[in-house]
Amino acid sequence: MSKKLEHEDILDLFREHPGTFVSGEEISHKLGVSRTAVWKKIRLLRDLGYTIDAMTSRGYRLVASPDALLIEELRSGLETRTVGSELVFFDETDSTNTRARELGDQGHPEGTVVIADRQTAGKGRLGRIWASPAGVNLYTSLLLRPPILPFDGPQLTFISAVAVARAIRDASGLAPTVKWPNDVLLRGKKVAGLLNEMNAETEGVRYIILGIGVNLNMEADQFPADLRYPATSVALETGESVSRLAFARTLYRHLDQLYLTYLDQGFVPIVSAWEELCDLVGRQVEVDCQRRVLRGTVEGLDTDGALLVRTADGVQEKIMAGDVKPL
Ligand code: BTN
Repeated sequence: MSKKLEHEDILDLFREHPGTFVSGEEISHKLGVSRTAVWKKIRLLRDLGYTIDAMTSRGYRLVASPDALLIEELRSGLETRTVGSELVFFDETDSTNTRARELGDQGHPEGTVVIADRQTAGKGRLGRIWASPAGVNLYTSLLLRPPILPFDGPQLTFISAVAVARAIRDASGLAPTVKWPNDVLLRGKKVAGLLNEMNAETEGVRYIILGIGVNLNMEADQFPADLRYPATSVALETGESVSRLAFARTLYRHLDQLYLTYLDQGFVPIVSAWEELCDLVGRQVEVDCQRRVLRGTVEGLDTDGALLVRTADGVQEKIMAGDVKPL
C-alpha cells in the first residue's frame, strides 16, 4: 500500500549491485524499458538528489542517496519486525495522525507507518498546533493494535517517549530527558512532542495511533513566536544537521524493540526505562491540571502511567492529565 515511486525499480536494481556499475543494457533488459527510458529514470534520480556515476563503457553506479524521506530508501534500511509493515509517505498532508486513523479504520495492519515531509494542520496536545515546515523535521504516526484494554491505552505514550529519547541520543550524542506525559527535552527545551489517539470499545482497543513530531533541523526563526515551553531542534543543540532518513530508521528500530518488550513483558520495563530518562523524579514541580494547580515532589509513574506527586502536606496525588513545570 506504500506509494510506489516511479524510480523504485531502478533503485532496487542498484541495491542488488552495491557500489558497482550496472550496464544500461542490463537495466533496460531487467526493467523491460528502452535505453531512453533508462536515461530518463537516471535523470529523475539525479533531480531527486541521488548521485549517480555514468561511464560510457560500464553503465551506471549509485554513489549516494539524498536525505529525503523517500519511502523506498527507508524500507531498504529498516531493522524491524512490526513497525513499518506498511509505509505511507506524503509530501504534504494535514496531519499524519488523521491519515493513520483513516488507515486504522480501513483495517490496515499493525505497524503501518505514515510519514509526511510537511503538515498543514499538525496537531499538538490540547488542541494546539504543531509547527510542521517542509524538509527539516520528522512527522510520523504509527498504527498499533495491541491486545489491551482501553484503560491501558495511555501506557503506549511512554513507549514512544523512550523510543524518541533513545533515537535522539543516538543521533546527537547528547542525553535527552522526558517530561510527563509526552515531551522529550534536550538541555531542558522541548525537542519532540507525542500525540496518541485511540479508537476503542469497552472490551478492547481497535487501534492506537502514536503520533510523533521531532524537531531535527529546524532553525530558530521557524518556531512559532507564542510557544508555551522553550523549544529547540537537535541541530540547534549540536550545531550539525541530522539525516532525517537515518533518524527515522533508528526511531522505528527503537519503537519496534520497545513495543515487542511491552507485548512480552508488560508495562513494568517501559516504566523503568522512562524513569531512567526522567530527571524530574525527586524534584519539585508545578502541575497545571486545568481545574487546579498543585505543587509537590515527583515520585515516579504509577502502573497505569499516571504521575505520582507528593504534596507538601504528605498526600500522594495521582495525576492523569496536566502540564508539568519544574520549579
Ligand atoms: C504536543 O507536544 O503537543 C504533541 C505534538 C505531536 C506532533 C506530531 S507530528 C506527527 C503527528 N501528527 C500530528 O498531527 N501530530 C503528531
